[in-house]
Amino acid sequence: MDRTIITGGTPLRGEVQIGGAKNAALPILASTILGGGECVMTNVPRVVDVVTMGKLLGILGAKVHYEGNCAVINAAVITSTQAPYDLVKTMRASVLVLGPLLARWGEATVSMPGGCAIGSRPVNLHLAGLAKMGADVSMEHGYIRAKAKRLTGAQIYCDTPTVTGTENLMMAASLAQGTTVIENAAKEPEIVDLANFLMKRGARIDGAGSDVITIEGVRELHGSDHDVIPDRIEAGTYLVAGAITRGTVTLNRCRPNHMDALLMKLREAGVEIQVDKEQIHLNAGSPLKGIDIRTLPYPGFPTDMQAQMVALMTVAEGTSVITETVFESRFMHVEELRRMGADIKVEGNRAVVAGPTKLAGAPVMASDLRASAGLVLAGLAAEGTTEILRVYHLDRGYERMEEKLRGLGATITRHKEGAAPADNC
Ligand code: UD1
Repeated sequence: MDRTIITGGTPLRGEVQIGGAKNAALPILASTILGGGECVMTNVPRVVDVVTMGKLLGILGAKVHYEGNCAVINAAVITSTQAPYDLVKTMRASVLVLGPLLARWGEATVSMPGGCAIGSRPVNLHLAGLAKMGADVSMEHGYIRAKAKRLTGAQIYCDTPTVTGTENLMMAASLAQGTTVIENAAKEPEIVDLANFLMKRGARIDGAGSDVITIEGVRELHGSDHDVIPDRIEAGTYLVAGAITRGTVTLNRCRPNHMDALLMKLREAGVEIQVDKEQIHLNAGSPLKGIDIRTLPYPGFPTDMQAQMVALMTVAEGTSVITETVFESRFMHVEELRRMGADIKVEGNRAVVAGPTKLAGAPVMASDLRASAGLVLAGLAAEGTTEILRVYHLDRGYERMEEKLRGLGATITRHKEGAAPADNC
């Protein structure tokens, strides 16, 4: 298993280019199953999860070709409607093929995603929505089996806004007979990006980005090009890298309007932020103040930035309370940050951080994608050397992270040591 070694203490300076959003690319790639015709997607991040989605589409029979950050997919012919356990266990977002397979081919068999490091993460709302659209859904030997001659439009209310659930239902409804209304839908920018791609292919969707999405089903979708939106979580992670090292960093090719909650919270913490159209300039020269944060569905503060902000708050003056409301056990990074000297107490779904701490480099263990990012950030600020184990988690969502950080002046290297184990998150 690879290890990342960081010698901290250098303020980061310079510019970094933000890549395409993993969480937009994954549903967009899955949605290619909804029709024949060539789909050419650009700004696709070369991260492990995206490669896994390509492998899954290949197993289903689609023609998949990656070149750099471009993916060309033609799903005119599908030879299997089964997403096997071996792949789903490595990436729970594989469940995104369920809606498209069912809508276009009348059946889907998808291994049930298991629990993961951040919580139990059920898919009951995906299944209830598909059942409302007329699918016969059952569980057999660890697999979800869904069948429907043709899905029919339905009125669906999601008990809680679910990102991949909304995406699965929106994709399925695109080919259903009649109109589907998804109420209490998730509003993330990645959902809007997926809707924009589907509409370019002939889908009729109204309201993506609001909590009511209306989809009028069509008979078929054709191929199209699409440029994936920039990754707001990657962008946020580099902003915190600048802030935690008290540096000056410019992000290029990002969408500041997708990052309002984070930008406001960083300003509240004393970081200077200036926003241009596709650029964010950060200057963290002044002392950092502890702040309170509550994660929420978009446009609230993203849970995918929680671990990074906990790391930042360890070096800020005063007490910060970070409340996690989206996932039940997303504080695995806290124990590791304590090993670096952080003063953090976890009380239920709240982490109370007392700062500032002079973090000290230590060997630490990554538990999931964003927790790993939090540890890298702490390592950049810490005195001495931090060694991060199980760093394969990072590769699932960050493209060339060490290289990009070195471009900003960080001392960070990857030590390659054999294959990464599979897990499910
Ligand atoms: C997506 C993102 C992930 C992010 C999360 C929350 C992708 C590929 N992943 O995950 O990075 O952290 O949104 O922003 O886009 N829930 C149910 N039943 C369901 C579905 C969800 O109870 O059927 C609950 C979950 O347990 C969780 C909450 O809803 O508490 C939100 O989860 P959800 O939005 O579905 O997360 P994902 O789509 O898995």
